[in-house]
Amino acid sequence: MSPYITDAAAWQESWDRQQEAYLPDREHRFTAMLDAVEAVRETAPPRLLDLAGGTGTISLRALRRFPDAELTLVDLDPALLALATASLGDRATIVTADLTRPDWVDALPHRGYDAVLTATALHWLPADRLTGLYTELRELLRPGGLLVNADHMPDDTLPELTKRLLAKAEARRAARYAAGAVPSWAQWWEHAAQDPELRSLVERRHAIYPTGHSQEWSPPVSWHLGALSEAGFTEVGTLWRGGADAAVVAVR
Ligand SMILES: C[S@@+](CC[C@H](N)C(=O)[O-])C[C@H]1O[C@@H](n2cnc3c(N)ncnc32)[C@H](O)[C@@H]1O
Repeated sequence: MSPYITDAAAWQESWDRQQEAYLPDREHRFTAMLDAVEAVRETAPPRLLDLAGGTGTISLRALRRFPDAELTLVDLDPALLALATASLGDRATIVTADLTRPDWVDALPHRGYDAVLTATALHWLPADRLTGLYTELRELLRPGGLLVNADHMPDDTLPELTKRLLAKAEARRAARYAAGAVPSWAQWWEHAAQDPELRSLVERRHAIYPTGHSQEWSPPVSWHLGALSEAGFTEVGTLWRGGADAAVVAVR
């Protein structure tokens, strides 16, 4: 039985604030993703996979745009999955799976997705695993369906400017933390660990991610476009770009 969370909406709101401190243009990338889904959608309700979906941020926005969407959300974090379950209820199939394992696809309820959408997550995977995952994701899409991956993806033609943009963004973030404007990643988790409904899930989460995070690896956009082409997608390109982040898109 899934755990009961009294106020998932409040936790979602604080999650959004915490993430927006890293990604001030976070909503822009979600809008770009959903515009792309709309562009390729066929007459049936879109079948969408929210990959490493956490609390369900993308799913919640997808349901606002496509209320009849058939959604699957995959993640490994028990605390975030409990929040996603509480927010999405029966509007999504929630799947616990580890993307580092190629057999994660066995846990999915469907194939033939119209779109796989993922944000700020795949930099947790090492290079060889991410190339394998791109191939697996292509197989999960219907012909003409698309994958959008929004993440930290510097523009390798702007190395010096990217360094300066990142330093500026970090200083702005530090000032907001110092002023108590938003919770940091660590504070958000400390806060969640104090909540009686989330405490045991956060403990399980810390056992899964003992360092708080997997290793992080953020290659430039050109790396992703090469890997997506290698995986056999027919069209690959940059859908959105902001600072050192981008959303790459790949059409099967
Ligand atoms: C920063 S969060 C982003 C969540 C959501 N996409 C959003 O934008 O709010 C990164 C997510 O990736 C998930 N994740 C990291 N490694 C994973 C893995 N090996 N398998 C499944 N999910 C993973 C984490 O549990 C977390 O929910």
